[in-house]
Amino acid sequence: MKKVQITPIIFHTMLLLMAALVIALPACSSDSEDEIAPDCDLDNVTYSGTIAPIMQMHCNSCHSDTAPEAGVVTANYEGLRAIALDGRLLGSVNHEEGFSPMPKNSPQLEECPRDQMAVWVNAGAPDN
Ligand code: HEC
Repeated sequence: MKKVQITPIIFHTMLLLMAALVIALPACSSDSEDEIAPDCDLDNVTYSGTIAPIMQMHCNSCHSDTAPEAGVVTANYEGLRAIALDGRLLGSVNHEEGFSPMPKNSPQLEECPRDQMAVWVNAGAPDN
């Protein structure tokens, strides 16, 4: 049987193919869609800059400091801190068993604001 010779031309073709693969692979993987909310900022979460605006948009209409539903206040720091530390904030927005799902009569919040709330609660619900 005749031995297959790796001629310089085959060798260079192989090199080119390998180089093409190395260039093409990262381009493919950066297209993948299972990346989790790439623009969700979990590194700079503060009460005033992140959490209070979420409450303003989704919760304060029912949980104001003047006439709060269920005695739950989300419209100021003291009120929100209380439900953050007793577990009801995350329990209700994450629709956990044993909690009233919030925001009431509206779709569940996106994952990003819920993750940001978790970061804030786990940091001890600071007034920052
Ligand atoms: C449309 C009015 C409304 C909105 C908007 C709303 N809530 Fe409520 N919330 C209520 C009512 C009414 C209750 C009393 C329990 C019930 O009826 O389910 C309640 C109860 C709660 C409780 C107590 C839950 C428990 O199981 O003890 C928490 C915590 C809470 N809300 C947080 C929030 C947060 C956080 C948001 C925003 C993401 C929000 N709510 C938006 C009306 C609302």
